[in-house]
Amino acid sequence: MRSFVADSHFFAGVDPEELTKRFGTPLYVYNEAILRDRMRAVAGMITKYPYTANYSMKANSNTAILKIAKEEGLNADAMSEGEIRLLERVNFPYERIFFVPNNVSDEEMRYAVERGIMVSLDSLDQLSRYGELFPGTQCSVRINPGVGAGHHEKVITAGKHTKFAVSMDEIEGVHEIAKQHNLKIVGLNQHVGSLFMEIDPYVQAVKNLLHVALDFPGLKLIDFGGGLGTPYHKLDGEAAFPIGDLHDALEPVLDDFVEKYGSAPLFKSEPGRYCVAEGSVILGRAYARKSNAGVKYLGTDIGMNVLARPSLYDAWHDIEILRDGKPVTEGQTEEITVAGNICESGDVLARERTLPVSRDGDLVCVLDTGAYGYSMSYTYNTRPRPAEVMITPDGNYRLIRRRESFEDLMSLLCE
Ligand code: LLP
Repeated sequence: MRSFVADSHFFAGVDPEELTKRFGTPLYVYNEAILRDRMRAVAGMITKYPYTANYSMKANSNTAILKIAKEEGLNADAMSEGEIRLLERVNFPYERIFFVPNNVSDEEMRYAVERGIMVSLDSLDQLSRYGELFPGTQCSVRINPGVGAGHHEKVITAGKHTKFAVSMDEIEGVHEIAKQHNLKIVGLNQHVGSLFMEIDPYVQAVKNLLHVALDFPGLKLIDFGGGLGTPYHKLDGEAAFPIGDLHDALEPVLDDFVEKYGSAPLFKSEPGRYCVAEGSVILGRAYARKSNAGVKYLGTDIGMNVLARPSLYDAWHDIEILRDGKPVTEGQTEEITVAGNICESGDVLARERTLPVSRDGDLVCVLDTGAYGYSMSYTYNTRPRPAEVMITPDGNYRLIRRRESFEDLMSLLCE
């Protein structure tokens, strides 16, 4: 049986049992070397022209990770005032932040504008509002390139049925509103959706956006969005996202555009998942086994509150069993459904999965949890959120967020 934990040397010599003894389970564990490796890969997506990748922090906004992104030279894409505040906490320079909200309030717009952060407007209505509030300023407009992609209909953000962006047949309206409020449209951006493994939809969307861009002289930035996939079936041999192929496919498209446009603005992307998904696992404890109507269940403390993706999108996460801190890669296997400790039938991490036969007390290690793991965790059933620990390249580790306490959970109550 394959083991990503062993192959990637994920724990870098640290004993997972020691981590769980110190910080409890469930526990998010990150590997700094893997995070840096993936961030360096996205930084090379476009090499011939001015380019930066905006780390899309909605995937994971722990400040330890934001600091790594900053050190790696990435910019950041924020989607709310809260995300901007987290970036401020790590002194992320304002000129390296792009605010890409959806249906945003005047106050949130103002929070960004007062700090000199570039704002992307997501509808003609919001563009007008922005123009009324901040006439004579610069901004960016999010365009729907007509092509969407993603692992689930809930995360496809372009194409026909989506609440996001200005469609390509509304471009005249963009020019009119800009003129009315003396706005300078200096950026165009898009995001087709989240998690695609084939490059074609992205490349097509880039072509469509660049076609629109020809109609906007004086652009300073064109942002192609994120969505680059990561292999969630790596134990079955699924290959990595072909980022080199994407680089090669984009280059002639950009050449063609720059020639027609007469200059090269700053090109950008907005990857979140690609940077962080593979850099984290969740460790949980196997607590109980049972059989219901012929289906075997393994009961753990990794509920849907800790990892929402399987219950929300039927998302697949590979699972390994660790015994005495080591992955079990030999011996008997069984088909078993792995469930959490939340009071919902949908609280299932993996259905009828073939796993090594486990025992109470083993650790259940869920892979690829760095993106939309902790950032989408919640406290349903009054279960505190887990701690997060970072393993450093020198084989040490440090706590990067403590476990929530019951006092934390009750601290907002007024009586
Ligand atoms: N830019 C914009 C405007 C976005 O809306 C998103 C993601 C990204 C960039 C980053 O996309 P990424 O590279 O991470 O795919 N919770 C879902 C994913 C939702 C993505 C939301 N927007 C999941 O767990 O699969």
